[in-house]
Amino acid sequence: MQVALQYARHGEGHVEPNPMVGAVVATADGAIISIGYHQQFGDAHAELNAIQAAGLDTLGNDLYVTLEPCCHFGKTPPCVDAVIQAGFRRVFVGCQDPAPHVAGQGIERLRAAGLQVTVGVCESQSRRLIAPFEMLMLQRRPWIHAKWAMTLDGRIASRTGHSKWISSDASRAVVHQLRGRMDAVITGAGTVRCDDPLLTARPRGARIPLRVVIDADGSSLHADTKLVKSLSQGAVLVCVADHISGKQIERLKSLEVEVLPCAVTKLGRIDLHAVMAELGRRDCTNVLTEAGSEILGSLFDSSLIDEVHIFIAPRLTGGSSALGPLGGLGRDSIPKIPNVQHLRHTSIGDDLLIEADIRRG
Ligand SMILES: NC(=O)c1ccc[n+]([C@@H]2O[C@H](COP(=O)([O-])OP(=O)(O)OC[C@H]3O[C@@H](n4cnc5c(N)ncnc54)[C@H](OP(=O)(O)O)[C@@H]3O)[C@@H](O)[C@H]2O)c1
Repeated sequence: MQVALQYARHGEGHVEPNPMVGAVVATADGAIISIGYHQQFGDAHAELNAIQAAGLDTLGNDLYVTLEPCCHFGKTPPCVDAVIQAGFRRVFVGCQDPAPHVAGQGIERLRAAGLQVTVGVCESQSRRLIAPFEMLMLQRRPWIHAKWAMTLDGRIASRTGHSKWISSDASRAVVHQLRGRMDAVITGAGTVRCDDPLLTARPRGARIPLRVVIDADGSSLHADTKLVKSLSQGAVLVCVADHISGKQIERLKSLEVEVLPCAVTKLGRIDLHAVMAELGRRDCTNVLTEAGSEILGSLFDSSLIDEVHIFIAPRLTGGSSALGPLGGLGRDSIPKIPNVQHLRHTSIGDDLLIEADIRRG
């Protein structure tokens, strides 16, 4: 199952909105016969690739698959039929499919056909692998990544708002890789005004992210803003308050950006839940927020950050007015601070990259 998990990850950025899945055909004593993974959205599923690569060697042998085989006609026929026809002796499944149209029915079909099925092998890793898919399926919103670069004293900009560049070239290359597997990259009006970012992946990745600006009054974009000047490299969506004037909407549309009027909170801020619901409707599975303190803080206050990617550079800026990463209201006591899980740290030259999931509940 570890091998299946490892291969499944090769599909990252290519298979969404489907889940990443890996499969291995092995003998009863664990010798690997073939490996398959879901490579591209719309193409064959992992178990089918592994079965085809094994040929007749599936007979009487075992299948390891990170996710319950599907039992419905989608872009491809049901995988359970192929698994049954392959004549396996045993099937080991990482985790049940959370999609309501599968949810255990694939496993039942295999058992009904007389196969010996074990569910929950490397279950937490298998479940984590499909976390963005599960979020989209069950909550109808994307998995929300938040990235920021900060100094050793926890500042994302100097007191004057200057932030280019806190982290190294090598760290920024990693950010471009991240962008290249996202469905959308989100920023705020403050960052557009301060930094005039491009938010494209350079070099291009597997996906071309929609660039999203959260801007209640819609005033941050102009004809000479880099996001507007680079529309040939990716579309731009501006989320504005639903009460802004028709004139402002027309001005934005004349820049050829898409305008999304959104509900606002009591504070006159864009309702970020509404933005995420819209991105979910568009089948966005992973979105990356590269914004300043206000947007990141609002997302955190709204429990809308699932995973963080924090680049820490060996520098100090100081200044009580220099921004930290998470503005907003914040938590009022330490026991209410959510723990992180799946903590990873990587050295990138002199920078440190800390990545983790935000634990809920
Ligand atoms: N080091 C890094 O990784 C990094 C990354 C990005 C930015 N930065 C730095 O961060 C600074 C900008 O940060 P910022 O906090 O001013 O800007 P921001 O978070 O990018 O944008 C904040 C603005 O978004 C709008 N907004 C609309 N709805 C909102 C909501 N629900 N919650 C929060 N904001 C909402 C508000 O402007 P309206 O009222 O006009 O709508 C608000 O002022 C700059 O100095 C930039 O260089 C650093």
